[in-house]
Amino acid sequence: MDSRSRILELFRRRDGGFVSGEEISRSLGVSRTAVWKQIRALRQIGYDIEAVTSKGYRLVQAPDRLVGEEIRAALDTAVVGSKVLCFEELKSTNVLACELGDKHEPEGAVVIADRQLAGKGRLGRRWESPAGVNLYASVLLRPAMPPWEAPQLTFVSAVAVAESIAELHGLPARVKWPNDVLIGGRKTAGLLNEMSGELERLNYVVLGIGVNINMEPDHFPSDLRHPPTSLAIEKGASVDRAEFVRFLLQRLDELYALYLDQGFEPVRRRWEACCDLVGQFVEVDQQGRVERGTVRGVDADGALVLDTPGGEARVLAGDVRPVKTGDK
Ligand code: BTN
Repeated sequence: MDSRSRILELFRRRDGGFVSGEEISRSLGVSRTAVWKQIRALRQIGYDIEAVTSKGYRLVQAPDRLVGEEIRAALDTAVVGSKVLCFEELKSTNVLACELGDKHEPEGAVVIADRQLAGKGRLGRRWESPAGVNLYASVLLRPAMPPWEAPQLTFVSAVAVAESIAELHGLPARVKWPNDVLIGGRKTAGLLNEMSGELERLNYVVLGIGVNINMEPDHFPSDLRHPPTSLAIEKGASVDRAEFVRFLLQRLDELYALYLDQGFEPVRRRWEACCDLVGQFVEVDQQGRVERGTVRGVDADGALVLDTPGGEARVLAGDVRPVKTGDK
């Protein structure tokens, strides 16, 4: 950890309280003048640090920047966040995380970008990724399991996102099969998981997570049929991105451990608890082939199970939307 990150770590541990110059200089093994220079440098990059004679320094407010060292230092995880790499700009965090996967990077590495130039959405769509407002993250995992079970991990990331939004911000986040998170019916987060493997063997999985955090209505493209939303729009106040990403990575780590230890069932139950679709009449568009029925739930393969006029149907991929009673 560099000197600035270590000073920030001391502030974080003091939780808004003062840390004396003497303490910082002792802990870093540098002179008081060197400490002052680091404090000045932190102020220049946007940290609001109060200095009071005889008390020391106090972090009043951190800028809304995502800094790998800071995120990493605040985590208490077994796997997720073993490394946190933050970039100002990337084509796509998923692309870099897959490259790391190909280069044998150990599991748990997290790639975050402040902005994506070619953010990838599902089905070849684009994911709007402007700078400074949202979270674009990809997590590299190497679970020892066959490739056909990898789609279950989409549910792990969906539950982690929905629970983080609900618990940290008190917003009614709901999951929509297979990989959206909505608030009040409007999309707030999207998940794009990619994997590499052979027929019988999984090399790695990349969980791609995009969360609209501080997007304002005029940031969204105007041609969208279903306008999305963001945490800030729903809360009516801006949201601390660093706090959100720490909470999310922590929750993802817990759910991943639960999944490895006890299998899909407890994750499936948590997912259903965040889902409004069960019992609803829906239609699922599978690239042109439409299936209609009442949602019974999700099975062990992560498939959506429907009661249809022709009997039970399992759907492995597609876009699902509720059908109003009059349209049945
Ligand atoms: C969707 O279409 O709903 C999925 C969107 C996934 C977006 C995230 S942002 C971080 C990661 N990197 C990407 O290029 N895409 C995913």
